[in-house]
Formats: sequence, structure tokens, C-alpha cells
Amino acid sequence: MPFEHLKLETEGRIGWIFFNRPEKLNALNSSVYLELEQALAAWQNDDAISAVVLCGGERAFIAGADIDGMVDAGPMEAHELTDISRRAQERLCNLPKPTVAAISGYALGGGLEVALCCDFRLAAENAILGLPEITLGIIPGAGGTQRLPRVVGQAAATEMIFLGRPVKAAKALEMGLVHRVVSLDQLRVGAQELAKELASRPAMALRAAKAALRAASSTSLQEGLLIEQQLFSQLFTTQDQSEGMKAFLEKRKPHFQGK
Ligand code: COA
Repeated sequence: MPFEHLKLETEGRIGWIFFNRPEKLNALNSSVYLELEQALAAWQNDDAISAVVLCGGERAFIAGADIDGMVDAGPMEAHELTDISRRAQERLCNLPKPTVAAISGYALGGGLEVALCCDFRLAAENAILGLPEITLGIIPGAGGTQRLPRVVGQAAATEMIFLGRPVKAAKALEMGLVHRVVSLDQLRVGAQELAKELASRPAMALRAAKAALRAASSTSLQEGLLIEQQLFSQLFTTQDQSEGMKAFLEKRKPHFQGK
């Protein structure tokens, strides 16, 4: 499927999505979001793809929403844009397979908001992450005010959003905003290794783990525990569960026999 602003690649069981608007540092407009939604929809139920990695260019993962397209917008247009971004992000957050944002350079505004929808954030040492919307007289409108505090806590999120000051990779790691930092030349390989490891895990269990973890940030504890119980129980119908547990016991047999 040809896209204008994205480049898609598959490598083994890994699906790669490259944001590809280098002249705008991959700034997001409604066409980019629509393409992202389509790309994810195509891979959602494709069993050949077990993990998805999102990448930008060396200078920028994504430098935010496209300001050219927003400067003359009124409230209706702004509302429409957030409807479009939300649809793409819901697709990304709910993708029933693990996702990794491989962040090099700027991940600002909508770029950080897209990365916040991924299960893992892997940053190169040159990464700069932030929500600078306040400096433009607006607030983050693609999930930033809701997802950032759930990841880094209310205090750190308040500082990033009120001051609009971005953080560098090392600080982002310290805050828990990214999972790992690697050198720039290791970013692709680091993302590939992580995605490969994820792809090797039992798909149904990963899917259940993702759904349970998502419930942790969107439901009450009581509700979340019930969701966990349901997901846990359902896994006892899978081949991975029966084979995985039997294989474990098989390995232990000689140990028991020796006693
Ligand atoms: N929207 C539209 N265009 C953008 C953009 C954005 N969010 N971010 C970068 N660009 C464009 C620049 O206008 C420039 O285009 P030009 O060459 O036609 O002038 C090009 O991308 C390169 O950016 P430039 O600003 O020259 O690079 P830089 O290295 O000096 O600065 C940034 C990089 C990311 C610090 C700077 O571009 C920036 O602050 N961008 C806006 C970030 C932002 O506020 N995002 C949140 C939006 S809600």
C-alpha cells in the first residue's frame, strides 16, 4: 500500500513504520495521522507481524503537529484534527501486539504523544523530548496532558507541560519517560533486538498482558483486577500455556527423579 508520508518495511516478524516528511522534521498533519491509522489497521490482524517499531529520521522522530496547518485554524478545525489524531492513537494504543518507538532527535508535541502510545520508548543519545505547546499559546491536544502524567507522574508532567521545556535523553531515562537510551548508531539495532525478543514471546499472552496493563491506567483497581482475572483465565485455553507449562515440568523431571 503506497503512502505519501510513511514508509513501511517488514523484516521477519517485525513491522517498521518510518515517518517520512524530513523537510518538516516529520511534523504531523491529518494526512500523516490517517496514513498511520491505515498502516496499523493493515497489520492489526496480520499474524505474520508480531511487533511494530515506529521510527523517524536521525534529526527528528517527529517535531510535533504541523504548525503551518494549525496557524489559521479555528476551534472547529482544531477539534477535527484532534478527532483524527485520536483515531490513529487509539489504533496504536490498542494494537494487539507490542509497539516500540525508536526515538532519535526531536520528539516534541504530537511526536511525544505518539511515542506515549507505544509500549516501549527507546531513545538515542541525541533525543530531545517535550511538550512545548504552551509556548505556542495552546496545550497538548493529542493525549499529552493525560498520558504523560500516567507515565512520569503528575509533578514531572506539570513541569514539562507548564514550562514547555524539553528534556534530553538521559533526563528522560531518569524520569522513566523512556525505557532505554542507546547511542545513535545503535538505535535501529537496539529497536530491532527488542522487537525480535518481544516477537519471540507467546502472542496471546503478550496480547493479554498489554490489555491488562492498559486497564491499569484506565480503570479502578477493583475493575482492573477483574479484567486481569478474566485475561489470566482465558490464557488457560491456549497451546502456549499447556505446552509452556508441560515443557517446564519435563525439564524438572530428572531433578525430581534424582532425589
Ligand atoms: N510544524 C511545521 N513545520 C515544522 C515543525 C512543525 N511542528 N517543526 C519543524 N518544522 C519545519 C521548520 O519550519 C523548517 O522548515 P523550513 O526549512 O521550511 O523553514 C524545518 O522543519 C526544519 O526546522 P528548523 O526549525 O529549521 O530546524 P531547527 O533544527 O532549527 O529546529 C526544532 C528544530 C524542532 C527545535 C524547531 O523546528 C521547532 O521548534 N519546531 C516546532 C516544535 C513544536 O513546537 N512542536 C509542537 C507543535 S504543537
